[in-house]
Amino acid sequence: MKELLRELRERSLAAISGADSAEVLEGLRVQFLGKKGELTAVLKQMGKLSPEERPAMGQLANEVRAALERTIDEKRAALADAALRLRLESEAVDVTIPGEAHRMGHRHPMYVVLDEIKDIFIGMGFEVVEDREVELAEYNFDKLNEQPNHPAREWTDTFYFTEDSSILLRTQTSPMQIHVMERQKPPIRMVAPGRVYRKDEVDATHSPMFHQVEGMVIDKNVTMADLKGTLDQVAKRLYGADTVTRFRPHHFPFTEPSCEMDIQCYKCKGKGCPTCKGEGWIELLGAGMIHPKVLRMSGIDPDVYSGWAFGFGLERMAMARFKISDLRLIFENDVRFLEQF
Ligand code: DAH
Repeated sequence: MKELLRELRERSLAAISGADSAEVLEGLRVQFLGKKGELTAVLKQMGKLSPEERPAMGQLANEVRAALERTIDEKRAALADAALRLRLESEAVDVTIPGEAHRMGHRHPMYVVLDEIKDIFIGMGFEVVEDREVELAEYNFDKLNEQPNHPAREWTDTFYFTEDSSILLRTQTSPMQIHVMERQKPPIRMVAPGRVYRKDEVDATHSPMFHQVEGMVIDKNVTMADLKGTLDQVAKRLYGADTVTRFRPHHFPFTEPSCEMDIQCYKCKGKGCPTCKGEGWIELLGAGMIHPKVLRMSGIDPDVYSGWAFGFGLERMAMARFKISDLRLIFENDVRFLEQF
């Protein structure tokens, strides 16, 4: 029996020191020390010994058990240590590795220009208003003094929702003048940027959807001089202090008198070049003194108040500003294009 215990001790200690994982170690513990383990099996044979032999054998067996338990504990601690070290190494963060660069987006060139325009007008005491794109024909046309036979009313020009041509996608931001007049009392100073829609084929200068900025001032004693002075200042702020403007007579149904404002070509300074198509001037916007009939229809007494208004295409402004040659680039959202601004 002594031999048996010695052999067991040697074999088990060797196996334990060779264990390479906590699972293997636990298996060995069960194999040697478990209820049905090898040491237990040897101890069960103690009964066969003579009473004289028993104490010495019992002591030896206890020593073997103690040695086994101690060695298993030590091995368990060593394995846990090794596992921890391995984890720390594998999960280590190398703070010296260069970071991943994230590509930052930025504002669309048209909105860059719109923000500048808003800033300029806000600085002059204007309020920015935005509103519906689906309009009543009444606001898009009638209340703007557009006659029943006006060509813009044609189904070939305008997107209608109803057979009776009463609801449409607004063709201009001018109906915003009416909405503001109906809900605000003068003095009024507002700009209204937004989308407008026309049945145009897409090409380098046309799109069925584009943006306009409407503006309106109503107060007592407002004159054409205010219109000219204000819009001239806006052009100088947008295109540079040396910008030259000119006002040409024009016709719009909702203004009287009406005009268009041009700026002298910023490229050739009026000599004529491809940018201004040889004209020397670039058309920028439509404007005029609000027609007394329009004021009256919207509940403002034209004998007490007068006003002026303007409207322009935002894409055209942005294209002039950034020298963009094709309107489609504005809407295609090709990042290779957008990144240039
Ligand atoms: N609504 C006009 C258009 O789409 C532009 C315009 C002209 C607006 C004169 C105005 C204005 O407010 O006074 O062509």
